Amino acid sequence: MIVLALTIAVGVGGYVYVTSPDHQSERRPEAGQANTALAEVSLPEALSARGKLGQRAFDAKCASCHGRNAAGRDGLAPPLVHNIYEPGHHGDESFQRAVAMGVRAHHWTFGNMPPVEGLSRGDVSLIVAYIRELQRANGIQ
Ligand code: HEC
Repeated sequence: MIVLALTIAVGVGGYVYVTSPDHQSERRPEAGQANTALAEVSLPEALSARGKLGQRAFDAKCASCHGRNAAGRDGLAPPLVHNIYEPGHHGDESFQRAVAMGVRAHHWTFGNMPPVEGLSRGDVSLIVAYIRELQRANGIQ
């Protein structure tokens, strides 16, 4: 009886593990090494107060795809510390639009970005401040 119960517990546990969304996204065939950053990001010596708030929001809402320090995640989303996203190519409003309406895949082959809920325009402008500080620390002006 005990052996049977254990077998069921392990079976259910394994099933939950394999089908949890987080785990599954890492098992997508195109995911490759899903936890691998795509860009090498140098960190600024210090973040501004706005940058720090932006970092907190970014870590909560964006880093699951765009990676820690916006360095990208293999198979999930591009680095935002990248020349493509310099202010002249992707102004602050393109960040607002990406969050509010999502992004149709066009620069990369990661797929579409869904809209991100629960952020005000003010929150997003803090995230942009954070990303710009990271970009400047990596020579992206
Ligand atoms: C579910 C994964 C996912 C999440 C979460 C996510 N993104 Fe994205 N994002 C993507 C992908 C994939 C792309 C690349 C689309 C492409 O091919 O150009 C992208 C592109 C972008 C772009 C470029 C937009 C453009 O006009 O080209 C910006 C800016 C951006 N994301 C900001 C954010 C911010 C800020 C957050 C958090 C609030 C966030 N993303 C959360 C997946 C994600």
